[in-house]
Amino acid sequence: MKIRTKDIHCHILPGLDDGFQDAGKSLEAIRMLAKAGCREITFTPHINPEQFPDTDEKLVRERYAQFVKQIPPELGITTSLAAEYMIVNGFEKRAMENPESLLCSSDKSVLIEMSYYYRSPNLEETVMGLVLNGYRPIIAHPERYLYMATCLDDFDSLRGSGCRFQLNYLSLAGYYGPSSVRIIKYLAKNGWCDFFSTDLHTVPQLYNILHRPLAMPIRFSRNPAVRNLLQL
Ligand SMILES: [Fe+2]
Repeated sequence: MKIRTKDIHCHILPGLDDGFQDAGKSLEAIRMLAKAGCREITFTPHINPEQFPDTDEKLVRERYAQFVKQIPPELGITTSLAAEYMIVNGFEKRAMENPESLLCSSDKSVLIEMSYYYRSPNLEETVMGLVLNGYRPIIAHPERYLYMATCLDDFDSLRGSGCRFQLNYLSLAGYYGPSSVRIIKYLAKNGWCDFFSTDLHTVPQLYNILHRPLAMPIRFSRNPAVRNLLQL
């Protein structure tokens, strides 16, 4: 699979979450991404107080400042810092009352995610809070929320509320099964595949991304919109 020039979602910044732990491996991944044609990387560590209670914006900023100095300039990679926010209980309050505390991109895009097992009951409130405050929610890997494959209309209302969608390359290879592919095809048909990203946690994952072909139902889809969007 080909990598696009921008990667807006990865866990390469070391020692903060369930992603990279070792700066040497992080640099190896960045070298590989550069070789594969990537030019801009946004580091997005998980901010999820339930799973990583020690990782907050302050720590993430400090680690970023230390780590970027180690990236060789000759790689020609531009980096920036944001985060992947789990929509835990209470996050909707933060989105509504204190969004300026969130790590987001310069165009105010905020990457948000949910559990793979259940839909966050406060998803709509979170999206509303962000949008009302002028922020731009991006839903991380919607194709991994398999419970949404049976209610695809949900994506229509999320789109209508101002959400954009970021898909993972590995999902395009069919890694998460037919329900995931169904979601991808639905988003592609509607022109809602806004970003493709690595969501990289390890170096072997990147080997997989670079060497796996698209899943058959995507590769051989007859829908021209799906073909156009997904022929990476
Ligand atoms: Fe992620």
